[in-house]
This record gives sequence, C-alpha cells and structure tokens, in this order.
Amino acid sequence: MRQAGLVVYEGLEAVKKEIAPGVTTNHLNEVAIKVLKKNGAKSNFLNYHGYPAVICASVNDEIVHGIPNQRKLEEGDILSIDFGAIINGWHGDSAFTVAVGQVRSNEEAKLIQVCEDSMWHGIAAATVGGRLTDISHAIESYINSQGTYGILREYGGHGIGTAMHEDPHVLNFGAAGLGPELQVGMVLAIEPMPTLGTHKTKTLDDDWTVVSIDGSRGAHFEHSFALLPDGKPFVLTSPDGGQEKLSSLGVAISDLLN
Ligand code: MF3
Ligand code: CO
Repeated sequence: MRQAGLVVYEGLEAVKKEIAPGVTTNHLNEVAIKVLKKNGAKSNFLNYHGYPAVICASVNDEIVHGIPNQRKLEEGDILSIDFGAIINGWHGDSAFTVAVGQVRSNEEAKLIQVCEDSMWHGIAAATVGGRLTDISHAIESYINSQGTYGILREYGGHGIGTAMHEDPHVLNFGAAGLGPELQVGMVLAIEPMPTLGTHKTKTLDDDWTVVSIDGSRGAHFEHSFALLPDGKPFVLTSPDGGQEKLSSLGVAISDLLN
C-alpha cells in the first residue's frame, strides 16, 4: 500500500504543477493517466460504478466527485483534485485543494488551510486502543474551533486495502469514543469536506458531481494512513509518512517503513 500511496502522491504532484488559469480539468486527468502508466499502476476511480476518469476535479461549489471536462480553469477558482491508484491489488487514495492562480479572499485561503489541518488533526487522534470516532470528533472540533463552516454529512472517510472503499465509514463529525476499536493493521482514508456555507449537498444530473446547495465553496483533503505493528501511524500517501505534520501535533510516526 506504500507503493500505491507513493504513486498517488506522484500523480497529485504532477497534476498540481499543471494547475493554472486556462487549463482544462481534462488535461489534468491526462497528466494523472500518464503517471499511472509510468508506474504500471491501475486506476481505482476509472469505471468505479461507471465513473469515467482517473481523477475527480471539483471546482468552487463542487465539493467532491466532479468529472474532468473541457471547461477552462479561471483565476481564483478553488480546485479539489482526488486521485487513486492500485499496485499489485493494493489501493491508495488522496486529495488536495488549491486556489487557481491567486486566491480570491483570505476566507477561502483559510477554508483550504482549515480543511487540510483538520485532516491532520483527525489522523493525529488515531491511537491503537482508541475508537474510530476519536478521529471524527477531532476533525469536527478542529474545524469548528477555526470559524463557521459546513461539514458534509453524507460523505466521509473509509477503510482502504484491496478495495478503495472498505469498512468502516469514517464520519467527519460526532462524539468521540464510539465505533470500532482502532487496531494495528487498520488502514483508513481520512477526508474532511468543509464549506464556507451549508453542509447540505445535491448531486448534479451527471450523477456524480456533489455541489453545496447554497453555492458555497468547499475544500477537500485526503490521506490514507496505516496503524503499523509498533502501534504508530504512517501516512502512506505522503512521502515523509506524515512525519512533519504529525510531529507538529505531538504524534510520532512509525519508522517501520523507512
Ligand atoms: N476517492 C474518492 C474517495 O475519496 C472516491 C472517488 S469516487 C470515483 O473516496 F468514482 F471517482 F472513484
Ligand atoms: Co477516499
């Protein structure tokens, strides 16, 4: 899964470099296809319940699951890219959000930062012997400590392994101390989705694109992490295993994969 995670990272970095006003999200999808090919990896997105691309590209009020298309990105758009890969049957899944060109407002810059930081707080809250919703609660508490945001309710994180989506579902809100006990060997994809407005969404007629019903913009970050046999976390989709971000939150990562 580390191999798959590093391919996902490479793909997201390659896509990130291409993001600019005037670029189409179809082009970004092509960039991601090349990275899969180069690494002998398969897409877990393509044909997933009929999904037609290897990335999701969600612009502005599209929060997640936007389908790449011919529309040109514009200065100030908020773009979320979600990407996954399979190596030897094992899956990786990760996402980031970025402003296209110059960000429009401090509010939007902060939305993006709060979303990313909430993901790290969620991962940092995962301890062997703890409970699944310790993660959920950490994500929600962090987001709410930073301002007024909607947090999507119908979408969340998930187990990941030989399939992209495995049990358990990981809520991005709720009380701590509930759900399954966190154990060595578990691998979870953590993916908060806050908006500047409502948490309520609808799905467009393309059957995929999830938009906020009030048109508010949203962000989406995602990493897949494992609880390794030494009882410590390791972020499979980050080149440093999450070392920098998690140590800043007082959490030591596993060195078993280094
Ligand atoms: N990667 C998304 C997730 O984070 C799912 C993408 S749906 C797909 O769970 F259809 F695009 F694959
Ligand atoms: Co996911």
